[in-house]
This record gives sequence, C-alpha cells and structure tokens, in this order.
Amino acid sequence: MRIICVNNYDEMSEKAANIVASQIILKPDSVLGLATGSTPIGMYNHIVKAYESGKISFQNVTTFNLDEYLNLDKNNAQSYYFYMRKNLYDKVDISIENINIPDGITDNIQEECIRYEKEIRNKGGIDIQVLGIGRNGHIGFNEPDIKFEALTHMVNLDDQTIKDNSRFFDTVKEVPTKAISMGIKTIMRARKIVLLASGKEKANCIYEAIYGKITPNLPASVLQLHPDVVFVLDKEAASKLDSEEIDKEYL
Ligand code: F6R
Repeated sequence: MRIICVNNYDEMSEKAANIVASQIILKPDSVLGLATGSTPIGMYNHIVKAYESGKISFQNVTTFNLDEYLNLDKNNAQSYYFYMRKNLYDKVDISIENINIPDGITDNIQEECIRYEKEIRNKGGIDIQVLGIGRNGHIGFNEPDIKFEALTHMVNLDDQTIKDNSRFFDTVKEVPTKAISMGIKTIMRARKIVLLASGKEKANCIYEAIYGKITPNLPASVLQLHPDVVFVLDKEAASKLDSEEIDKEYL
C-alpha cells in the first residue's frame, strides 16, 4: 500500500489523473475501472486536459464503471451514465462500444450482473480501478456488512449513502434506494487500485480503511489485502493518519 498526501483537492485530482494517464501511455489498450461522485470530477478534468494536449488517447481504451442506480433512465441527469458522458466520455475519443456501465433499467438484474462480470473477464480484467470512498467506508456501492466474495450484484443503499447523495437531487425521496455495483471481489481482482479522498468528512473512514480491522463493516478495509493499492489523499482526508508512513508531497 502506498499513501500519497497532497495539499488540496486540485493536487489530488492532478496526481490521480497522472496515474491514470501513465497507465494509458504504458498500455494504450488499458481497461480502466472508473468511479463517479464528487471526488473524481477534478481528476476527469485533468484527464481531459491530458487528452486535449495530445498526451493520451482513448481510442483503444475500454472502461467499466463501478456502479449505476437502478431504475434511473440513462438520460436522467443524476444517472452515472449521464455523469460519465458529461465529465469524460463526450470529451475524449473513446468508442461508444468500449464504454461499459451497468444497465440500471434492465428487466433482469441477475442476468445483467452476470453479463457485466463476463464482459470484464472477456476484456482481460481491469488494469487500474479508480475508487472514491463513502463516509461509511463503502467502495463502489458495497455498503457495510457486504460479503467480500461478492461479484457484481444489486445493492440496497445505506441510509447514510442516500442522505449523502441527496445533495444531487431536489428531495431525499428522489434518491434511488437500489443500485447495481461491482462487488468487492470484482474490485479486488483489478491489477492496480487508486483510491481518492478529499475533505475532513473522509478522515475517519480513511483512518479505518488503512489502520482498522479488515472487516465487512468497513468495506474499504479489504484494500489492505490488495498487492498494488495507492491512496491519494488531501491533507484533510489524511489528517488522522500517522505522518511517518505518508509520502507528503507538500513538504
Ligand atoms: C461512485 C461510487 C461511490 C463514491 C462514494 C464517494 O461510483 O462508487 O463509492 O465513490 O460514494 O462519493 P463522493 O465522491 O461523492 O464523496
């Protein structure tokens, strides 16, 4: 595990974008696992800049998103499909057939989950998985008490997650309560993982994920078992960690 601590949100975003861009430069047909939420927006902006300046191309890149809400149309502005088009896919040269996001309006959820896992396998697995983290320690939408051996599956969102995500909706009642998410096992199969966190409200879950007991109660704690994981944190998210163990890039 490597922990990189930078000054602020923008530095975190740039650092994470550089990690993803390096992956694409080294392997132009990389398979990326991508996250949504507030945290990676700055990273996507920097990735788009790298594309615009000719440093990277998505022509041969394949992407798999972590999750999608159930029963939210793709064109709904709160769907993760819409988010990904707005923040990345409409701004780079990725082919539509190389974009994979779970289908949240499927008639057969179980089949869709199996199909998604198969697609990942057919593409040779995920080279680098980008993650955010929920205040309750969730990764993807793997909420506390998840089974570590879960593959892509339907999840019931935690009350805390519904409350946290209500900031994107007009009322809390509009927030979907279910989603399709890659499972912990799917995430742990990625060859490399980069987790981003910013802000003091993430300090506790980051502390628990890195130093706490490995437990399904704090899903991100499972990352302690991954052989190639890097946490890119701003000072506030890293504020509870012991400073000797961190690469402080702001020193
Ligand atoms: C999003 C996802 C979630 C978010 C997490 C943090 O695809 O899988 O795990 O990363 O809820 O969300 P933000 O970044 O909005 O705090």
